[in-house]
Amino acid sequence: MPALDSSILLAFLEAGDQPVSGDRLAKELGISRVAVWSRLERLRAAGFTFKASTRKGYTLTAVPRELNAAWLDAQLRLRKVSPEVELLAEVDSTNSEAERRLAAGHEAPFAVLARTQSAGRGRLGRRWHSSPAGNLYLSLAFRPFIPPENLKPFTIWMGLAVCAHVEAAYDVKLGLKWPNDLLSADGRKVAGMLTEARLDADAVRELVFGLGLNVSTKAKDFPSELRALAASLELAGASPLDINRVAAEVLAALFTAWEQFIDGTWMPTFRARWQRYDVLTGRSVRVGLRGEPVAGIVDGIDDEGSLILRTGGGRKTIVSSGEVTLRNE
Ligand code: BTN
Repeated sequence: MPALDSSILLAFLEAGDQPVSGDRLAKELGISRVAVWSRLERLRAAGFTFKASTRKGYTLTAVPRELNAAWLDAQLRLRKVSPEVELLAEVDSTNSEAERRLAAGHEAPFAVLARTQSAGRGRLGRRWHSSPAGNLYLSLAFRPFIPPENLKPFTIWMGLAVCAHVEAAYDVKLGLKWPNDLLSADGRKVAGMLTEARLDADAVRELVFGLGLNVSTKAKDFPSELRALAASLELAGASPLDINRVAAEVLAALFTAWEQFIDGTWMPTFRARWQRYDVLTGRSVRVGLRGEPVAGIVDGIDDEGSLILRTGGGRKTIVSSGEVTLRNE
């Protein structure tokens, strides 16, 4: 991605609705006006449209519908997201790619996004449908050096950060279905999270947080077997969204949530966020992982992020991982 394209686009972002003069762009970027013009032509070919008005300059009037490295970079620079973020055209799985980069000694934190994944992974060995039609596939990589038990509420905290951002920015209230699903109001899955870690006996050495988030996917773009079960932010009620803006904002929210997780400032807000976005408390569920499924009524989560179930005879069962099925579904 030429840095110059990202700098030009950042100037448009900073200008908001105001036109940007070709002269100013040329001066600020240290290139000729002809070079500015030819860059704008290249950006037009990539799906951007600019309206030129005499004497005033150019206004950015449309942006590509798919992930675009220069536009994403400009959006990240606007929000001062400092960790490295790389967009790939295609990869097997962004989680696997992040793991490979960590193993190769890449400086963390960083993030990897892909327009499409050939082997996107879900929890419990499932496949994650990864077509390029309006979805985000991203992974954040960290080297936390924290005791493994401190990691327990991490995925939930990151999911709550996504819910809080989505509600504030796009006016859509998602619900968090413990431990890793983000659901629309009608119970369809809008996002899934997959956290993977490499542990030593005393510390988490490498940590990858993966998020698959459906942004502007139309119902027809989901495979028929998922159509009734999946939704996107737009299907859940958001106004038309720029996927590059959403990617940058979600990454900014996740990197901030990570910093809060590491410095402990997540703790005072955790309960209130959980209560706002949790969709399970009071529901009758069955939780299965290995062995016998456990049935009960959800009574919240404990401080470690484990699910509290009231089972037969008022007994309390703590479930630290598993797959939740709502019993009246
Ligand atoms: C689930 O709901 O089972 C979790 C789905 C997680 C999918 C994301 S997409 C980006 C990242 N890369 C993967 O291979 N999986 C996660």
